[in-house]
Amino acid sequence: MTAPIGHSLVTRLEEYLHSWGLREFHDESSYYQWQRTCLNRDQLLAFEELLKRRTKEGGGDADIEFYDLLAQPIILPVLYSQRYDYYRKIGVVLYRRIAEGSRVLDFGCGVGILTTFLAQEFPNIEFVGVDRSAQSISIAEQEANRCHVKNVSYFVRHIPSEPLPGSYDVVLSTQAVFQSEGHSGPPSMGWQTFRRPYSLQEQVTLEMQLGLAPRLDALQAVLQRNGRMILFEKTGHLGRRILFQRALSRRGFHPVHEPLAIAYHSIDEQVVDGPLYEVSQAAVGNSALWNEEPNRRPGDSLYGCSGRVARRMGSILMGNENREHGQLKSIRWGMCRISLGKWQEALAYLLFEADSGTSAILVGGLLELSILTDIFEQLMKMPAEQVDQFIADTWGNLLNESNEEERPGYENHFSSAQAIYMALPSKVLEKEFSFSGSEGKSMHLEFGKTMSLWYFYWANTFDQRQLVLVDYSGERMLRTYFEDSLKDLKAQIS
Ligand SMILES: C[S@@+](CC[C@H](N)C(=O)[O-])C[C@H]1O[C@@H](n2cnc3c(N)ncnc32)[C@H](O)[C@@H]1O
Repeated sequence: MTAPIGHSLVTRLEEYLHSWGLREFHDESSYYQWQRTCLNRDQLLAFEELLKRRTKEGGGDADIEFYDLLAQPIILPVLYSQRYDYYRKIGVVLYRRIAEGSRVLDFGCGVGILTTFLAQEFPNIEFVGVDRSAQSISIAEQEANRCHVKNVSYFVRHIPSEPLPGSYDVVLSTQAVFQSEGHSGPPSMGWQTFRRPYSLQEQVTLEMQLGLAPRLDALQAVLQRNGRMILFEKTGHLGRRILFQRALSRRGFHPVHEPLAIAYHSIDEQVVDGPLYEVSQAAVGNSALWNEEPNRRPGDSLYGCSGRVARRMGSILMGNENREHGQLKSIRWGMCRISLGKWQEALAYLLFEADSGTSAILVGGLLELSILTDIFEQLMKMPAEQVDQFIADTWGNLLNESNEEERPGYENHFSSAQAIYMALPSKVLEKEFSFSGSEGKSMHLEFGKTMSLWYFYWANTFDQRQLVLVDYSGERMLRTYFEDSLKDLKAQIS
């Protein structure tokens, strides 16, 4: 039996990455141990210095020096190994999207890890890689020769001061067109919303300031009228995503497919990046796919706690009649009760109470009701010997937590906190503070009561949110937290 295409592609890609000397790591300590055996102190210091300069200067010469250094043969495999899973995930997606091209440009190709792989996979497609780091291009050429790949050419080009060679029916850019990673894009209209009003003048100014306009214009100039651009940039932040999408849209590009978020790990850190855009100026695109809402992962508003805090949260949330109960038997916990319900039009919860006294609760926004209902229904059907494992998988370490009193009854740091805050019933505000700074920066904190719960809410115009809820026993802790946060904020702005 032949291996499925997906499997053999990943295997080929992994072998190719290994041929560059790249290794896969899942934990920091083994990676840094390996790094120390490969690189000496001076090399590491030079790298760190350049990294600092690059962050401070936000691009320019330091950026070129940085990529030149990264392309040094001793340094390359070590530092690019941090991107092992990135190359594996992006490589597979690009492979699937590129098949119909005949001339492909990879802008900001770096040392050509992806470009040479794709060229090797598609010998009938002609690839061109450009980058402003001369050392990266020199390595890209050497590696293409080493792999005997003939259908790729590499050029040193600094865009926009030097023109791009040729014309293409596919243009690729992976983490090259939208630099200035520290900039989070335009702010939202206020701390209560994620919306950004459209102003052409502000859009143009920001595109110029962040170097996006000259790069996109240069790419558009070499793309054939019915060609496609495939772009994977650091646009995980909503403001950056909106700025980027609007930059594409105002140049007449439409998504050909739904933009695709890609998750990969960088050593032990999970990164969800992108999305990957495939856009075209041809009529087939669909502008309705330009979504300007914050990303939401199902379940991201769920929060768990156990013990006394869970029992008190449970008794407050269950005050509402809107709930379902079920009995189940577990080997470890004995007879248990599971309650599922909604609290007002703000929260959904699933409470687990064992006769032995153990309690745990999951609380989230109303959008999580379907996930909680699934858990409830699965538990109801489950034989006793599976219940223990399911409960342990759902609440994990919380069930053994010793400092349970320190935990709030609910906490949410995602954009989903906003809808919950808005839906909190009968809010009685006790204290609040709002601050407006330059360039649309503003933030707001408040502390108050919502029926029997106390709440703390913090929001700004760069999409950060924090909502904390406690029962009466946590009031002092939350009040102190509000005062401390206020002090910190005032110190920052004074
Ligand atoms: C983060 S690296 C990405 C490299 C490669 N695309 C990848 O995915 O591994 C960004 C690359 O873009 C190149 N780059 C950035 N701005 C550029 C410009 N204006 N002209 C040419 N290359 C540029 C940098 O030199 C660097 O090699």
